[in-house]
Amino acid sequence: MPPAPSGGSTPPLSTPLPALVLADQRPAAPVLALPTAPEGESARLLGPPPDLAGVDLAALLARESAKGKPGEVVAVPVTAPGELERVLLAGTGSAAPADLRRTGAALARRAREAASLVVDLSGLDVDGPRLAALAEGLLLASYSFSRKAEPAARALQSITLVGAGDRQAELDAAVVVVRATAFARDLVNTPSLQKTPDWLATTAVALLDGLDVDVLDERALADRGFGGILGVGQGSSRPPRLVEARYDGGGSRHVVLVGKGITFDTGGLSLKPTASMLEMKSDMGGAAAVLAALRAVADLGLPIRVTALAAVAENMPSGTAQRPGDVLTQYGGRTVEVLNTDAEGRLVLADALAYADLDLDADVIVDVATLTGAMPIALGKRCAGLFASDDALAAQLQEAAETSGEPVWRMPLVDDYRRTLDSPVADLRNIGQPKLKLMGGSITAALFLREFTGGRPWAHLDIAGPAFTGSDEDERTKGGTGYGVRLLTAWLTELATARAAA
Ligand code: BES
Ligand code: MN
Ligand code: ZN
Repeated sequence: MPPAPSGGSTPPLSTPLPALVLADQRPAAPVLALPTAPEGESARLLGPPPDLAGVDLAALLARESAKGKPGEVVAVPVTAPGELERVLLAGTGSAAPADLRRTGAALARRAREAASLVVDLSGLDVDGPRLAALAEGLLLASYSFSRKAEPAARALQSITLVGAGDRQAELDAAVVVVRATAFARDLVNTPSLQKTPDWLATTAVALLDGLDVDVLDERALADRGFGGILGVGQGSSRPPRLVEARYDGGGSRHVVLVGKGITFDTGGLSLKPTASMLEMKSDMGGAAAVLAALRAVADLGLPIRVTALAAVAENMPSGTAQRPGDVLTQYGGRTVEVLNTDAEGRLVLADALAYADLDLDADVIVDVATLTGAMPIALGKRCAGLFASDDALAAQLQEAAETSGEPVWRMPLVDDYRRTLDSPVADLRNIGQPKLKLMGGSITAALFLREFTGGRPWAHLDIAGPAFTGSDEDERTKGGTGYGVRLLTAWLTELATARAAA
């Protein structure tokens, strides 16, 4: 093999997030945001207006036909002397967390050019979850990643939240989750020229500073029989890796998170058409999510034991690539007939799932993967498919999706489709038999994964839709969204606190 071309060592390049602080009094700032709420057909100002000699903000809201909906911002230029240049009247809808997340995102976008922003919440009744959601929106929408020679600097350096009471702990937790999400976005947004499997593993080690992290290289993977990861990675000059990162905050139960880490998915010899390949630097979004969630869990110091596994490979066509019809041996010994090299995610995940089952004695396994193009066709770009072997686990994840604002929809593991994965020459085939004319590609993919979970409580999140977005919308920024970090962190927080209380 030729020496692997170096991806270089440039670090991820997202702009540092603005600082977010709580205050009792409004400090002087160029931009002041005030919440509004729907009232009848129009919007009502919540809380004390600033002293803007002669300006009637309520009348302005009516003039602008403001509705008070989340995401709505009416900007009012200020000519009065003093530091204040603009007032932003921001709709908060029902003021539920999901609405306030949008409010925060809209405000951050409108205040990008200002050095500082003050948000006066004294007219709103903010509890912990509401404050956290607003903070998430403000910070997540401020995220920016650029590889321009001269990146445009974001002016916004600091955001002050006034009148939210003493909620420093909730704010700190929100900032931890946002930082972790930015870490996941950085990994996804990094172009695959730089993002080799080794780079992803090395960068994970750096970002998980302070945690216990092992990286298996191609030789270790071969010695230990990780045939799925090796098979997928063998077409690339840049060899595969398995990252195992551990956090032990106590407790007897062991949660194992597994992420799909395809640093680029060309499809392999079952080559994708150009248009389908465009977003495939994001095919490691699952790995990014589980690694980042572990960062968040550790930073929060949750009393729980979590291991994150990232199965990392580049799926390339070449003289050394696996061929359709090849049979590989997964970790643990089962064989798979590879009939489509583009169904590679399940092959790398199967090794990691089997390892979680056979070696890690996982009490619960959750995998996260940009697994099938069929998933966004079914559920669109916002919502992930949730498959679970265990109803209680599914309910926990649905609850976490609700609180975190990362939606999921439960999908069925239709047992009757399992036979489409039977192979005459191997224990399984990696795609359903086209002869049986069964569609449901996301379901057969999930059924394939289930084979490697040893009957343990397991859930699978197919994030092919929400992992990546083509445009800025609400708290998401163009590119990698970091989908899954908030959901997993919310779930693990609940799991840890519920068990600590029990
Ligand atoms: N990484 C893709 C799935 C994907 C598609 C993610 C679009 C995000 C957006 C996956 O590896 C893949 O290629 N799946 C195939 C499976 C098929 C060959 C059975 C697919 O969905 O077409
Ligand atoms: Mn593929
Ligand atoms: Zn893929």
